Amino acid sequence: MPTYVYGIDFGTSNSSITIWDVEKRALLRDPRIAGVESSFMYFPYTLRRDPPLIGNAAKLRYVSDRMRGRFFQAIKTILPNRTFTETIVNNQSYPLEDLIAFFLRHLKAKADEVTRQDVKRVVMGRPAVFSTDPAEDEVAQDRLRMAARLAGFEEIHFQFEPIAAAFAYEARITQPERVLVGDFGGGTSDFTVVQLDPRRQGMTGRAGDILATGGLPVAGNKYDSATMWHKLTPRFGRGATFESWGKRLEVPDTLHRQICHWDQIVFLRNAPKLDLIWRLARLSSDPAAFERLESLVKDNQGFAIFQMIEGAKIALTTQEVAPLRFTHPRIPLDEQLTLEEFDRNSADLTAQIVDYLDRFLAGAHIAPASVETVFLTGGTALLRRLRAEFTGRFGADKIRDGGEFTSVGDGLALSAPLFFPELHT
Ligand SMILES: Nc1ncnc2c1ncn2[C@@H]1O[C@H](COP(=O)(O)OP(=O)(O)OP(=O)(O)O)[C@@H](O)[C@H]1O
Ligand SMILES: [Mg+2]
Repeated sequence: MPTYVYGIDFGTSNSSITIWDVEKRALLRDPRIAGVESSFMYFPYTLRRDPPLIGNAAKLRYVSDRMRGRFFQAIKTILPNRTFTETIVNNQSYPLEDLIAFFLRHLKAKADEVTRQDVKRVVMGRPAVFSTDPAEDEVAQDRLRMAARLAGFEEIHFQFEPIAAAFAYEARITQPERVLVGDFGGGTSDFTVVQLDPRRQGMTGRAGDILATGGLPVAGNKYDSATMWHKLTPRFGRGATFESWGKRLEVPDTLHRQICHWDQIVFLRNAPKLDLIWRLARLSSDPAAFERLESLVKDNQGFAIFQMIEGAKIALTTQEVAPLRFTHPRIPLDEQLTLEEFDRNSADLTAQIVDYLDRFLAGAHIAPASVETVFLTGGTALLRRLRAEFTGRFGADKIRDGGEFTSVGDGLALSAPLFFPELHT
C-alpha cells in the first residue's frame, strides 16, 4: 500500500490540501483536490446539531438563505485570541478547535477520497508569526494542532508558510539561488530567506538552508478595512455631529471602527447598540447615514459590503479606477475608488510591511544585494504599490512571481521529507 503525507494550507481567506507520495517522492495531483477553497464556514439556522457547510458551498448557501444563519470567515485570525474560546451557534456551544476541525475534516475527506486511505500524517502550514506575543503564538499553534487531531490526524507537524512557498519555487529553478520569499495573504505577510538548490529538493535535514523567517499580521484583510474606514465609514455617519446639553459633539467613532472588521459587525446586533444607532438616525446631523448603518447591521449586509470592497481592490490591480457600487435598497452606494486613493488610504499598511522587511533583513544580517531573487506570492502580492516597493528595493530583474494561491500548499507537501525522514530512507 502506498504511503502518503498530506499538506494543509489553512489560510485566512483560502485553504487547500496537497498529497505527498512517499515512494515516488512527488506530489500526487488530482482534479478533486486541485485549486483552493474559500475559508468560509456556514451554519444554516436549524434546531439540529448539523455540521456546517464549508468553502464556496458555504457562501452560496449563506447568500441563498438571505444571510440569516451564522457565517464565519477569517477564522484563522481568531487562533491567537485567548479571549475567544467558544461560540454559540444554533444553541450549541462550539470551541474554536471544533470549528476549525470541521474545516480540516472536510479537506481530509477530499484527499482521502483520492488516496482511498485514512491518512494520519500531515504537515500543517502556519504563518511565521500568528501573534507578536509569544504566548499567544503558542496558543494559536496548540489550537491548530488540537483541531488537526480532532479531524483525525495523528502525526502532525508544522511548517512555516513562507518556507513552504520557497520549496514550491525551488521546483521551478535549475540553479542554486539565495531567495527572499514574501507571502502576502489575507491575514499575514510572511518572509523567509532560503538557500535553494533544486538538487536538494525532497531531501531531509535542510534546516541549515533556511537563513531567516519572520512576518507580521498585516495583509489583504487590513487593506479592505482601510477602504471601509477612509472611503465608506463617512457614508455610515463617521464625522457626523449631535447636540448634547447645548453643545455640538462629534459622534464617537467606536461604531465605525467596529464596522471596519467584517466579523465584528454582528456584535452590533444587540438592543443597546441598535438603540444608539436608532437615536443617532433621529438626532445627529446626518440621519440618512445612520439609517444606512442600521440597515448594514440589521439586514446583515457586512459580508456583501466587504465582497464589494475586495472586488474593487482586485480591480485596481489592473485598472486605475474601480466602482464601489452597492444596490441594497436601504444602503445605496455609487462611488469611484481610484488607485491613487486606494494607495493613499493604505499607505501606512504598505509602510508597516516594508519597514518590517527592512528590520527583518538587517536583524538577520542579510544585505539586500546578497539576495539573488525575490519570490512574491499570496493573493496580496498582486497589489501594485506593494510590488513596486520590492521592485524599487531589489530591481525588477530579481522579481519572480506566480502560484499566488497554490505555492504554500504545494510546498507543504514538498516539506514532508523534512518532518518524516524515517519514511524517506
Ligand atoms: N487578484 C488579486 N489582487 C489583489 N489581492 C487579491 C487578489 N486575489 C485575492 N486577493 C487578496 O488576497 C488575500 C488572500 O490571499 P491568499 O489566498 O494568499 O491568503 P491566505 O493564504 O488565505 O491568507 P494567510 O496566508 O494570511 O492565512 C485576500 O486578502 C484577497 O482579498
Ligand atoms: Mg497563505
